[in-house]
This record gives sequence, C-alpha cells and structure tokens, in this order.
Amino acid sequence: MGGKYRRMKIGVFDSGLGGLFTLGAIAKALPEYDYVYLGDTKRLPYGSRSQETIYQFLKEGVNFLFAKDCALIIVACNTASAEALRKIQQSYVPKKYPGRNVLGMIVPMTEASASFARVGLVATSATVSSGAYDREFKKRAKKSKIFSLATPLLVPFIEQGEIALMRPALKEYLEYFKNKRIDALLLGCTHYGIVKKEFQKLLPKGVAILSQDTVVPKKTKEYLARHPEIASQLSKKGTRAFYVTDITPELTKLANKWFGKSIKIKRATIDKK
Ligand code: DGL
Repeated sequence: MGGKYRRMKIGVFDSGLGGLFTLGAIAKALPEYDYVYLGDTKRLPYGSRSQETIYQFLKEGVNFLFAKDCALIIVACNTASAEALRKIQQSYVPKKYPGRNVLGMIVPMTEASASFARVGLVATSATVSSGAYDREFKKRAKKSKIFSLATPLLVPFIEQGEIALMRPALKEYLEYFKNKRIDALLLGCTHYGIVKKEFQKLLPKGVAILSQDTVVPKKTKEYLARHPEIASQLSKKGTRAFYVTDITPELTKLANKWFGKSIKIKRATIDKK
C-alpha cells in the first residue's frame, strides 16, 4: 500500500484505564502514529472472570477497534492476553480481518525476561491460573525458573489511589518471593507499572523490574520494522482518540493522570456480536 493511501491506526485495548499508562509510553516512543484507545470500564475487572467471558469481551473490543480503522491492535490487558488472545489471533482475526493483527503482552514481556535465571511474576488471578506466562517463558528460557503469584488485591487499591493502604498488601505478597532468589520481577498487569516505585522499595537491590511501559514501546517499534505489510498501512498524523464503555468524573481524572496529560474521552457503544 503506497504512503498516499495510509489511513489505518494503532488500537490499544484494555479492560479499563490502566492501559492508558502503556499507551502513553508507546505514543511517546512512536508519536507520529494515530492511536485509538478502548477501555472496557463498564465491565472491569477482567481479572476475576472466566475464560469464556474474557474471550467474548475481547472479541467485542477487537471488533470496535477494527471498525475504527485500526490495522494493528495491542492488547495492553494481561488478563485478556493470557486468557483469550491466542484464540483471537489463530482463528477469529485471520478469518474476519485478514491483513490485520492483534498483539498481546505475554510474548513481549516473556521475551524481555528470558535472559534472567529466576523470574517472579505478579498478575491477576486469571492471568496466573491461565498458565500463559509460564508456558511462554519456558519456551524462551528453558533453563530458567518462573515463580508466579496472583496478587488480586492490588488493582482496586491502585484504582482508588490508595497507595498507603496498598503497601502492607504488597509487602505481604512479596514475602512469597523471599526465598526464591529472583533476579527479576515481571509486572504482569496493566496497573502495576504505575506503582513501580513501590515494588522497587520492597524488593532487594539488584532485582530488575520488568514493566510493560518500558518493554512494549520498544517491542512495538521492532514489530513494525519486521512487518512492513502492517506498518505501510499506518497513517502518521499524530492523532489520539480515547473511548471507554462507561465514564464518571473519577474515571476521567484517573485517565488524565495515567495517560500523563489531559485527554478527551468519548463513550463507546460495544456491539455484542
Ligand atoms: N487490565 C488487567 C490486567 O492487565 C487488570 C485489571 C482487570 O482485572 O481487568 O490484567
């Protein structure tokens, strides 16, 4: 496709607003592209839902973003990446949207952690119980070890901005890694990068923190360089559009904070097909 006909965008999907923190980092690294964000705030959290439900929600989100002319969708939500992305990538998208693609968090994050010998993973209950991180990590780091822990209480604290209240829970959770001698901790959830410093304070010095706001921008750049068939469709007007399935003044405040600047958010109507 010639440059003259470029009109497609990059979509970023999340169960809520945490993905805005990831999008902020991607858009900072690749500012020239046009981005459309969808946060399914009406149905958050995904982390405690069944695989079947998460698949249905992701499918609807993907349909929405493709209808907004996205050629590539980045699923910033780890839970949706872990529970539903493979099926979407293998059967749904190739049939319904040939020539477009959907990427998730598991592959880039495990690639980034594969050079470490002992890795800890913190994520939602659904992400951990899916086993997706363990599976993908083992593929890339056969001799390394991964220790996974579900940390379901963190998202509500972070969303409420209750960082002081979160600290004791985080401390208790991280006890699990005490005797595991990890050399890296993989933050397998959209929200955890937002409180990266809190993790840092509680982890022994020298433990690397892998978070999607630092890993994914670089990986997206590399992906676009490897996939000219997608990159050549993308327009470069530097626009950003933000959609959520439910909106309140509190959510707007949070969205501005996590994206890093004041944004205009529209309400999305999701087609339940
Ligand atoms: N976005 C989810 C994730 O990254 C966290 C919030 C939720 O449970 O929906 O796993």
